[in-house]
Amino acid sequence: MTAQFKQEAAEAAVESITSGMIVGLGHGSTAIFAMRKIAQLLSNGALSDIIGIPCSLQTKQQATELGIPLSTLEEHPNVDILIDGADEIDSQMNMIKGGGGALLREKIVAQSSRKCIYVADETKYSNYLGEQWAVPVEVLHFGWKSTMKFIESLGATVSVRKTAEGDNFLTDQNNLIMDCNFGIMQSPATVAAALKSRAGIVEHGLFVGIAHEIIIAGNNGLRTMKR
Ligand code: A5P
Repeated sequence: MTAQFKQEAAEAAVESITSGMIVGLGHGSTAIFAMRKIAQLLSNGALSDIIGIPCSLQTKQQATELGIPLSTLEEHPNVDILIDGADEIDSQMNMIKGGGGALLREKIVAQSSRKCIYVADETKYSNYLGEQWAVPVEVLHFGWKSTMKFIESLGATVSVRKTAEGDNFLTDQNNLIMDCNFGIMQSPATVAAALKSRAGIVEHGLFVGIAHEIIIAGNNGLRTMKR
């Protein structure tokens, strides 16, 4: 069911795309359904002149295989619409992202987009962020232990993300990801500001005040939150 809900949410978001748009393409198992739908609409002529801006190297590869024309933020710094997934969503439309490690590029593309739509199945919704997910934080190798101690001093339990083979997980920028469990966060904005204050932290996966629209699919159909 989860995959079906992901698909329903993603395809509902694609309805906001019109021909000629520059489209931010998100990363992950929900966003891929949006890309597949875009590819289908391009091939049957319902959409034309779409240019995609991928949020990760993996997304770039998938979009290329689907035949979606791509460009870069350098060529197109103003994106019309972004469709991306999320790991956890609260009632204020704050989100945790970065489960796939792509949070930096995802946030850069989001901040370059006129409209950001996030899509998810209903398991991603929580009353408070932190109920289900730790906050992924992208960290430079240089001084990583000191950066880790800093994050722990904010009250988090921190682990360096590993691959299945036991190596350090590396982002598209070759940085580390630290998964930082803050527990339930009453004020994600306060945590975000504290993380942002530290050199060595490249970016964090708290997306506060970024989503314009969130579409959640579940047993009771689609639920849309708008700002
Ligand atoms: C990637 O870094 C993440 O932010 C994803 O957008 C997020 O993890 C959602 O992924 P799924 O759609 O695969 O759950």
